[in-house]
Amino acid sequence: MVPLRRGDAQEWARLRVANESWLSPWEPSAGAAWADRHSPAAFRALRRASSRRARLGTTLPFALRYQGRLAGQVTVDNVVRGALRSAQLGYWLDREVAGRGVASLAVALVCDHAFGPVGLHRLQADIRPGNGPSRRLVERLGFRQEGLFRSYLDIDGAWRDHLGYALVAEDVPGGVLARWQQHAGH
Ligand SMILES: CC(C)(COP(=O)(O)OP(=O)(O)OC[C@H]1O[C@@H](n2cnc3c(N)ncnc32)[C@H](O)[C@@H]1OP(=O)(O)O)[C@@H](O)C(=O)NCCC(=O)NCCS
Repeated sequence: MVPLRRGDAQEWARLRVANESWLSPWEPSAGAAWADRHSPAAFRALRRASSRRARLGTTLPFALRYQGRLAGQVTVDNVVRGALRSAQLGYWLDREVAGRGVASLAVALVCDHAFGPVGLHRLQADIRPGNGPSRRLVERLGFRQEGLFRSYLDIDGAWRDHLGYALVAEDVPGGVLARWQQHAGH
């Protein structure tokens, strides 16, 4: 897990365009066409905005690199401090590398970073009920389903219900990665 680099623009745009049908059912709605929102110029604007928010401490954006190339992103977003010390988790993976445990490993590492050095207490993942791979990912890492948010996020062209999954630091005293490895018998 590394920061998004300026030089990732072309590869990010290529991956996002190639993965449109895989990603769009789970992604925020927007007026512009998918290709326009996923151009190298769009990447540069997104990266600038996300770097600014990262400096303020409200987001932790990570690039997922697999076998030396960009393969997805994991983002700890909407970081709130004070008594809540909470954030929301988002992630996507190139379809070509799905089904190998890469995303689970990446999300586990990011959760451990968020609960450790960053000092957060609660991580929430909001997932459409029909997104089986994403639900299995968070369940694998110990997240618990806490509720159903009706008409919660504007995704793929309409307001969509989401399941609220959450993990709190005391659920995983030894860390998320260690807990998953123990449960998976690695
Ligand atoms: C959600 C998403 C990241 C999950 O990807 P994934 O490939 O299922 O997750 P992983 O990389 O952790 O792989 C886990 C799968 O690999 C399998 N696997 C194979 N070898 C493995 C290994 N050595 N270790 C762990 N898992 C392994 C697991 O059994 C699991 O499959 P299963 O869920 O059918 O049981 C991916 O589906 C995606 O990007 N979807 C589109 C965007 C999206 O939905 N984002 C989230 C919105 S809430």
